[in-house]
Amino acid sequence: MATEHDEYMGSLKAQLAKLFEVSLKVTVPNELDVEPLVAACNGKFGDYQCNNAMGLWSKIKGKGAPFRGPPAVGKAIKNNLPTSEMIESCSVAGPGFVNVVLSKNWMAKSIQKMLIEGIDTWAPLPPVKTAVVDFSSPNIAKEMHVGHLRSTIIGDTLARMLEFSKVKVLRRNHVGDWGTQFGMLIEFLFEKFPNFEDATETAIGDLQAFYKASKQRFDADPAFKERAQQAVVRLQGGEDKYRRAWAQICQISRTEFHKVYQRLGVHLEEKGESFYNPYIPGVIEALNKQGLVEESQGARVIFIEGINIPLIVVKSDGGFNYASTDLAALWYRLNEEKAEWIIYVTDVGQQQHFDMFFKAAKRAGWLPQGDSSYPKASHVGFGLVLGEDGKRFRTRNTEVVRLVDLLDEAKVRSKAALIERGKGEEWTEEEIESTAEAVGYGAVKYADLKNNRLTNYTFNFDQMLNDKGNTAVYLLYAHARICSIIRRSGKDIEELKNKGTLVLGHKDERDLGLHLLQFAEVVEEACTNLLPNILCDYLYNLSEIFSKFYSNPECKVIGSDMETSRLLLCEATAVVMRKCFDLLGITPIYKI
Ligand code: ARG
Repeated sequence: MATEHDEYMGSLKAQLAKLFEVSLKVTVPNELDVEPLVAACNGKFGDYQCNNAMGLWSKIKGKGAPFRGPPAVGKAIKNNLPTSEMIESCSVAGPGFVNVVLSKNWMAKSIQKMLIEGIDTWAPLPPVKTAVVDFSSPNIAKEMHVGHLRSTIIGDTLARMLEFSKVKVLRRNHVGDWGTQFGMLIEFLFEKFPNFEDATETAIGDLQAFYKASKQRFDADPAFKERAQQAVVRLQGGEDKYRRAWAQICQISRTEFHKVYQRLGVHLEEKGESFYNPYIPGVIEALNKQGLVEESQGARVIFIEGINIPLIVVKSDGGFNYASTDLAALWYRLNEEKAEWIIYVTDVGQQQHFDMFFKAAKRAGWLPQGDSSYPKASHVGFGLVLGEDGKRFRTRNTEVVRLVDLLDEAKVRSKAALIERGKGEEWTEEEIESTAEAVGYGAVKYADLKNNRLTNYTFNFDQMLNDKGNTAVYLLYAHARICSIIRRSGKDIEELKNKGTLVLGHKDERDLGLHLLQFAEVVEEACTNLLPNILCDYLYNLSEIFSKFYSNPECKVIGSDMETSRLLLCEATAVVMRKCFDLLGITPIYKI
C-alpha cells in the first residue's frame, strides 16, 4: 500500500518543474538532460515562470530545429505542456518566458488536503538518507561563548529542517575534550584536591576560573609545567588515575553545557575529540600510503593546491592536532556512520581550516571533486555577535557572556512585558512562566537566525523583544491572534476541515494561499543552501500577507458568508507558522 508520503509529488515548484520536463523532452527531443528552470515570479503575468527558452535557443540554433527564435521555443514549450489540474492558464511573454497562472481550485484543494493529512505531507524530499550535523562543540574547561550559542542555534535549526525532510540526522557535539591543556588541568586538580574524586562542581566552582588559575600556575612555575607535560603523556598513555581525573573534569563541563542545552531545548549527542583519537594513526597511515603526506620543517603535512601553507597532520613533536582529529572524524563519519552529508557549524574564522581539510579529503578520494554531488562536506560559517559598542559582545563584569545569564535576562524581560499587559491578573503563574520562556528564548534564537549567518549582528534585548517588526515576539503574538480568531468563532475546526470547503475567491485570499503552498520549496531552499534566514523571511512575509488579508474588510472572517472557508485559511496559516516555529526551535504560544 502506498503511504501518504509516497504519493507526495514534491514542492509546488518541483511539481511544475516535472511538467516542464515532460514538455522539454517533446519540444527538443535531441537535447538530453535539459534541466527545467522554473521560478516563482509573483508578477502580473503569472505565479511561476519557465525560463528555458532563451538558453535552449542558443544551444539549438543552426542545428536545423524548427524554430525561429526564442519566443517560438517558448511557445512550443507552452504548447507541449501536459494538461494538469494545477494550471489555470499559460502564456508566453517577451523573449520566451512561459508564465503559469495556477488554478485557484487546485490551490484551495491542496491546502485543504494538507489540513486533513498534516503538514508533514509538505516536507521536502530528502537530499540524502543520513547526515551529520556537527554543532555547538564547545571546549572543555574553556568558555562556552556566544559563538557557541550561535553554533547551537543554527545547527539545531539545520538539523530540524533535515529531520523534517526525513533525513536521519546524527547531531554531534564535537567537544574539545582532548589536548595539551588537560595536563595542566589535571595537575592542578591533584594539587588542589588530593582526593580529587570528591571534587564536585560546587567544590571547583567555576571551571573557567579553574582553567585560568591553572594556566597562571603553569606559566609561573617551571616545575609545575614539567609535571603538567608529564601528565599529558600519562593521560594519553591511558594511565588510570589520569584518565579518571580527565573524566572528572569533562563531567563538570558537561553538566554546565547541559544546562544551556536544556534551556534551549536542543538535543545533542556528544562524540568529542577524544573519541576519534584511536583512529588517527590508521587514518594518517592510509593517507601516507596514498603518498599524500609529506615532511615539512619536521612536521608531517598535506599540501593543498592553491594554498601556500600546508595542512599539518602530525606536529613536529609527533603529537596530533585539530586537523588530525577532524580527518579521523570525517573518515569515521563517512565509513562507519555512512553519512552522505557532513555539516560543520562554526564561526567563519575557521573557514580556512575546513576548506583545507575538505580539499585534503578530496585529494584522498574520500569526497568527490565537485561540490554538487554526495557525499558532501559543508562548512556553515557565521559572523560575530557584537555588543552595543560594535565590539565583540561582552558584559560589564565578566570577559565572556554567560549564556545562562543571557537566557535568564530574556525571560525576565518578557515576563515583565506580560505583566505590563495585565496578564498577571488574567493568567496563572504557570502560564506566565511558560509564555515568558517561549517568548524570551524564542526572541534570542530568532534574532540570531533571521540574519544571513555570515554577517555580524548586534545583540540587543530591546530590539529582539520588541513586539513590532521582524521579531519572534511579533510573530508569536501574530500566531496567538490567529488562534484566538478560531476560538472566538466557536466552531470546531477539526470538523470544518472535513466538512467545509476552502475557496480562494478574493485576491488577498489567493495571495495568502499561494504563499502557504510555497512552504515546502522554501524549506528545501533553506536546507540546500544551509541558510535559516530564508525560512525566517518566509515566516515574516507569511504573517504580513496574513495581516493584509485579515485587515481587509472585504475578507471579513467571523460572521461572513465565507466564514468556514476563511477559518480554514486561518487554520492553515497557523499550522504553517507553527511548523516554521518548530523548525526554528521556537515554542509557539496560543493566546495573548
Ligand atoms: N571546539 C571547536 C571550537 O570551539 C569547534 C569544533 C567544530 N567541529 C569540528 N569538527 N572541528 O572552536
